[in-house]
Amino acid sequence: MADKDDIREGKDFGIGIPQENRPFFVKGNGALDWGMQNRLARIFNLVSGRTVMLAFDHGYFQGPTTGLERIDLGIVPLIPYADVLMCTRGALRSVIPPSATKAVVLRCSGGQSILTELSREAIAVDIEDAIRLNAAAITTQIYIGAEYEHQSIRNLIQLIDTGNRYGIPTMAVTGVGAEMKRDARYFGLATRIAAELGAHYVKSYFVEEGFERVCAGCPVPIVIAGGKKLPELDALTMAYQALDQGAAGVDMGRNIFQSDDPVAMIQAVAAVVHKKEKPGKALQLYQQLKAGNVPDRSRLARSS
Ligand code: 5RP
Repeated sequence: MADKDDIREGKDFGIGIPQENRPFFVKGNGALDWGMQNRLARIFNLVSGRTVMLAFDHGYFQGPTTGLERIDLGIVPLIPYADVLMCTRGALRSVIPPSATKAVVLRCSGGQSILTELSREAIAVDIEDAIRLNAAAITTQIYIGAEYEHQSIRNLIQLIDTGNRYGIPTMAVTGVGAEMKRDARYFGLATRIAAELGAHYVKSYFVEEGFERVCAGCPVPIVIAGGKKLPELDALTMAYQALDQGAAGVDMGRNIFQSDDPVAMIQAVAAVVHKKEKPGKALQLYQQLKAGNVPDRSRLARSS
C-alpha cells in the first residue's frame, strides 16, 4: 500500500524544455493512431527506415515450392536475419517457433490455386485470428486488369477496414495476372490504387524503366518482391536499384530461399537494404559467408 506520509511533491518539470513531437518516420503514415504506428515501427527499421521481409507464403496457392518443401529446415534458420516474416497462418502455427519475436505480416487471402484463375481470391483469415497471432500487419493481393480485379480490390478494402478497427496496418500486394504487362505504367497504376484505398504500404515488382516514378507516385512505402530466382549478383543489383529509386525495402522469397546459401544471401540482401552496400560488395559478403570466412554470422544480423 502506498505510504501516504511520504508523498513528495514533484520538482523537476523540465521547465523551458519543450516536449518533443517527433514526426513518424514511415512515409505517408504520419496521421495514424499509436497502435498502427507501433506495428509499422516493428516492420521498418528505426535507423535505416527500411525493411527486409522474408516472404515464404508461396504455398498458399502453389503448394510445396522449391526451397519451401520443409519450412522448418529451409526458413527457420533464416529468421534471425529477417526483420519481418511474411507467411500464412498455417505455416506460422505449424512450423515457426513462437519464441521468434520478429514482426509477422500475415497472408490473409486465398481460395485459388495455380491450376485455376489466380485473381479469384477471397479473404481467408478472420481479423480475430490475425490478432491472436500477434500480426504486425495483414495482407492481400490485388489483380488490377485481371478477370477478378473487382473482387480482389474488394478484398483489400475489407481488410483495410477491419485492420483499421483494431490498429493493424495492411500491406497491399500487387499481383500480376498472366496477361498483364509488367511495366512502370502498370505498377504505377496498381500501387497508387492500393494506396488511395488506404493500404499502409504496398508490395510491387521492380521494373528497369520508370521505377522511380512508381515510388514517387505512391504516397506510402513500396517494398519489392524478388520474383523468379536470379543469379545472386542480379538479385542484389535489383534490390540496390529499387532502393536507390525510392523503395523502402524488399519482401523477398525465392531469391533468398532458393539461393545456394540462403543464410548468406539474406545477410547480403540486408547489407544492401540497411547499409546501402553496393551490389558488388554485397556479393563479396555473400561469397565470404558462403565460404565460412565470416565466423559469427549472427553478429552481422544484430548490427543491421
Ligand atoms: C506470393 C507472394 C510472395 O510473397 C512474393 O511473390 C514474394 O516472393 P518472391 O520474392 O519469391 O517473388 O506475394 O503471392
